[in-house]
Amino acid sequence: MKSKPMNRKLEYTPKVYYRKVLTAARRLWLLRCRRLKRSKGGQIGRIGGPFVVTPAMRENVDQVLASGRLSPGPFVKEFEARFAQYHGVQHAIMTNSGTSALVVALQALKEIEGWPDWSYVICPALTFVATINAVLHCRLNPILADVDPTSYTIDTEPIYALGIQPNVKAIIPVHVFGLAADMGAIRDVASDCGLRVIEDACEALGATYDGVPVGALGDVSCFSFYMSHHITAGVGGMAITDDPQYARKMRSLINHGWERKAAPIDMKEFDFDEIRKRYHFASIGHSSRPTEFEAAIALPQLDDLTINLVIRTKNAIHLTTNLTQFKDKLQLPYFPHDRIHSCMMYPIILRDGDKWELIRHLESNGIETREMLPLTNQPCYKGLFDEDDYPVAKWINEQGFYVGCSQYLTDEHMAYVVEKIGEYFGRTYQH
Ligand SMILES: Cc1ncc(COP(=O)(O)O)c(C=O)c1O
Repeated sequence: MKSKPMNRKLEYTPKVYYRKVLTAARRLWLLRCRRLKRSKGGQIGRIGGPFVVTPAMRENVDQVLASGRLSPGPFVKEFEARFAQYHGVQHAIMTNSGTSALVVALQALKEIEGWPDWSYVICPALTFVATINAVLHCRLNPILADVDPTSYTIDTEPIYALGIQPNVKAIIPVHVFGLAADMGAIRDVASDCGLRVIEDACEALGATYDGVPVGALGDVSCFSFYMSHHITAGVGGMAITDDPQYARKMRSLINHGWERKAAPIDMKEFDFDEIRKRYHFASIGHSSRPTEFEAAIALPQLDDLTINLVIRTKNAIHLTTNLTQFKDKLQLPYFPHDRIHSCMMYPIILRDGDKWELIRHLESNGIETREMLPLTNQPCYKGLFDEDDYPVAKWINEQGFYVGCSQYLTDEHMAYVVEKIGEYFGRTYQH
């Protein structure tokens, strides 16, 4: 991997951050509660809670409609610029999904670095299927490493042995559930083995590793703005990089592989060379452009990101504080000292017994759950992976699930989750 300075260090440690979170959360909470329709403790509803449209989003969407410009324009440009600035990187390319961002990132690297078809890319054995699908869509081969039983991110122990194999070209650390993978060890292996690093940060906007935001630690990094993510635009994604060549290629790939400086609508002056190049396609590209609407909805959420991270963290702390009484039965999320967790969701592992009984109890009481991204047992990968080769991922597939902790969920919701888990274990809820 190219050496890259960690150029956007935060000035405080995770410990100080969590203390700040609790203080800020108390102040913010009253404010936020006025805007939310609070449930009386029965229905917790969707994992992400109900999406709240703010006046700023409405105003931006009205502006798009009034302008008549629906294709990528000023809102996309501004969102890209501010997203890049937030991460301290040079280039951000907005796409229509996180998956598209991963696909164009991988294809750009493959074309520019000259990787042969079916070269290998190291991926974790626990991630959303989109990570693996993007690799396969680019005619590359995912090669899996098991995950760490505490952080659930890629286990860094086996990756050197995989990385030095011939034909292994890249690694995709996935920051699952909002927690950064061990990027120090991953960058070391990448550097020793000459691998490119593509961060899948789709679940971890706002998380940090050693004071640096995730996304600023790879050659290219990808984010999603699908529902329930830290920034939600309905659909949408972003690929960020410091490398101008990768950036140029990704911008072309989201637009059919077109090789032109600007869309006709953005041509500032008469340029006959550009007009002649209107139909030059350098690569077999994709139609992965966003519209102005996604950027118009996403842009104001950058201003709310810190508040929302604080509320998510407060919700997660609420759950951890009150579920610790069941620590003999449940494994709760890990908050390591060198990383800020962005609490995309709240993963729980049932140590013993049938998780489906607990899930049935929670779901029947209106608490939505999801499994912890089972991958190696998916029918679509039959013949490609053997679940037994990845025992930690298999254990998580069998025993893991998550509940929501988004900014749209309240203290009452969190207390209700604790109450229902306590009820399942036959204990009354103890505050
Ligand atoms: C880890 C991970 N990678 C990729 C994606 C794909 O993002 P999208 O749904 O925007 O395509 C997701 C979606 O949630 C994800 O969780």
